Amino acid sequence: MTESLPVRIFPDRTAASRTLAEEVAALVRSINDSGRPAVLGLATGRTPLPFYAELTRLHREGKLSFARVVTFNLDEYLGLPGNHPESYRAFMQKELFGHVDIPVENIHIPDGMVGPAELEAHCAAYEEAIRAAGGIDFQLLGIGRTGHIGFNEPGSPRESRTRRVELDPITRQDAAPAFGGLEHVPEYAISMGCGTILEARRIALLAWGSAKAGIVREALTGPVTDQVSASFLQDHADATFYLDSEAGAEL
Ligand code: PGA
Repeated sequence: MTESLPVRIFPDRTAASRTLAEEVAALVRSINDSGRPAVLGLATGRTPLPFYAELTRLHREGKLSFARVVTFNLDEYLGLPGNHPESYRAFMQKELFGHVDIPVENIHIPDGMVGPAELEAHCAAYEEAIRAAGGIDFQLLGIGRTGHIGFNEPGSPRESRTRRVELDPITRQDAAPAFGGLEHVPEYAISMGCGTILEARRIALLAWGSAKAGIVREALTGPVTDQVSASFLQDHADATFYLDSEAGAEL
């Protein structure tokens, strides 16, 4: 292995998710104990599902409160209202927020229905809200088959900020089953930029399954390049990959 980033390989996604959830719970408690809210950057997709299940379990067991947690999601599809079942707002409600004690005003997700005239201001306000919250303490990431983090598709500059992005054809293809066909998958999204993500104090990238093994290897051991936005994590001071044995099989 030649990668420069810490990599933790677990027998399966449940074991990985359980470990990370306990670490995040400890981080939240320690930040709350220091007298301020903890700021979490959250992700959507299939990958974080077992992690959100573990956070929910910790909450049910009385080991984790979201009462002083502020969240910022990475991205949202453009053109989808928050009540669309495939919107990331609906996803977060269903998979996490609906099961824990987070105050609704602490939740931030880009608005998929923002019009073209307001888009730039909306993105700038999102960046400003992250700054006003004190920056992101912990950022959760998945990785797309294009190497994207958030929706930072190939060509997204390292310095990019929250903005409108065009989805890569591979990303749209991967989303097609959930939308009931490629023609229903939005073409654009709002996404935090690589620069936004890289400012998080701690980052965990999760990947499961053999379909991710190749891109995980590229991100970890390939050149740092805007063609694989996850490769920018190689230069982050506190980023870790949490993999199951299949996603780590090519390392
Ligand atoms: P997935 O997507 O979790 O549904 O595999 C990951 C991503 O695109 O970042």
